[in-house]
Amino acid sequence: MEKITTTKLVAMKKSGEKIVMLTGYDCSTARILDEAGVDAVLVGDSVGMVKLGYDNTLPVTMDEIIYHARAARRGVKRALLIADMPFLSYETKPSDAVLNAGRLVKEAGVEAVKIEGGSEMVKNIGAVIDAKIPVIGHLGLTPQALHKFGGYKVQGRSEVDVKKMLKDARALERAGVFMIVLECIPAVLAKKITAAVSIPTIGIGAGPFCDGQVLVTDDLVGLYSDTSPKFVKRYAELKGLIASAVKEYGTDVRTGKFPAKENSY
Ligand code: KIV
Repeated sequence: MEKITTTKLVAMKKSGEKIVMLTGYDCSTARILDEAGVDAVLVGDSVGMVKLGYDNTLPVTMDEIIYHARAARRGVKRALLIADMPFLSYETKPSDAVLNAGRLVKEAGVEAVKIEGGSEMVKNIGAVIDAKIPVIGHLGLTPQALHKFGGYKVQGRSEVDVKKMLKDARALERAGVFMIVLECIPAVLAKKITAAVSIPTIGIGAGPFCDGQVLVTDDLVGLYSDTSPKFVKRYAELKGLIASAVKEYGTDVRTGKFPAKENSY
C-alpha cells in the first residue's frame, strides 16, 4: 500500500494520472472511501449542510470540523486526509490562520488544509505554509463567499473574472499551495488554469480538463438531495434504500416478525 502524500499528488499531475478525491466526515465512510482507493479524503465544511443541517457552510466552527476530522482520521490509512478551514478561521490575520490550521493538524491529525480565496488570502496562506502545514487553494464558486456572489452562481464567465482567476491561481502557486480546487467555473477556464500552473487542479463543476475531480460523497451516493447541482453524477440511490430498509424493519417490529428466534439469546 503506497501512502498518498502531498508530493505524490503533485507527481500524479506530472505523470498524467488523474487524482480522485471525495468528502468524508466520519470514520466508517472515510474507511470505505480509503479502502475503495480514493487518493484524498476531504473533511469539507460542506459537512455543515450535509450532516449538520445548516443552510450554508458559514456557521461551521473549528470545533465541528475538528470533531469530524478526528473521526475521519480513524478511518483513513492510505489516502491524504485534508480538512477545510471554516469561515473566519483564517481571514482575520496570519497568526489566526496558523493557529487554526495547527489545531487541525495537532488535534485531528489532518495532513493538509484547504483555504478558500485568491490573491487577497496569499499572506495568510503563506503563513500557514511557513508553519509547515500544506495548503490547498480553492477558487471559483467558493461557498463561503455565498453572500458576496449573491447566490451559488457559476464564476469566471467575464473577461475580467477569467484574468483575475488566472492571476489568483498563479499567486496561490507562488505562495506555495500544492493543489487548487476549482469549483463551478467554465471548463475552458479550468483548462487554462490547469495548463498555467505546475500544481494539480481538482475540479468540481469545472469540466474534464482538471488534474482530478472531487464530489460530495453524499451527493454521489444519493444520500443528500436538498440541492442537486448539474455537476453531480449519482452513482447510487442510498436514500431510497435506507428508507425501504427502515420501513421493512418497522413493519417487522409492529407485526412481531422481528426479533425472530435467530436474533434472540
Ligand atoms: O466543503 C466541501 O465539501 C468542498 C468541496 C466539495 C470542494 O469544499
